[in-house]
Amino acid sequence: MLCETVGVSTLHPAAAPLSFLLGSWSGEGRGAYPTIDDFAYREWVSFRHTGKPFLVYEQRTADAATGAPMHAESGYLRAVGDGRVELVLAQPSGITEIHAGTVEGRTVRLATTTVGVAPSAKRVDALERDLTVDGDVLTYEVRMAAMGQPMTHHLAAELRREAEG
Ligand code: HEM
Repeated sequence: MLCETVGVSTLHPAAAPLSFLLGSWSGEGRGAYPTIDDFAYREWVSFRHTGKPFLVYEQRTADAATGAPMHAESGYLRAVGDGRVELVLAQPSGITEIHAGTVEGRTVRLATTTVGVAPSAKRVDALERDLTVDGDVLTYEVRMAAMGQPMTHHLAAELRREAEG
């Protein structure tokens, strides 16, 4: 559903620079890391607003071959003025990410200021996320410093905007 709202239909003016993200997206991605085998996944993403100066972000993924659920995450993309954005994110794998970055045109660039790991979660030290929209195609890349590795590519995906309604 495009621009789902909670009793408010007007986008907050501060969130206007992020409006190109609003809606539902789906597609495919590929993952890699020096410590694991490469993998392919399906992905579903939505960005919606509530009338406040942030977008609500929800994501889930599934194994491209078997359909088994994989990674999921949800959070808030905050518009904080002057082209600056912050992302607050939680994952069921026991990891939280807080990012600071920029929105320029239809590109968001983020780097973590803080990563939280639950006592049983895998070690993650830092992440970088770049996301860009060109027409109805959203592409992103995620790099991470984790498991004792330096900042290294983990994910790249290409999603398409889903039809409204
Ligand atoms: C589209 C989203 C993602 C998918 C589909 C995905 C998938 C995977 C898969 C299949 C593995 C290998 C199996 C495993 O150990 O669980 C893995 C490993 C890992 N992922 Fe991701 N991942 C995603 C996002 C992330 C994010 C955002 C982080 C960090 C915040 C992350 C951190 C890790 C870590 C630390 C490992 C363990 C590597 C190791 O055991 O050496 N992943 N991921």
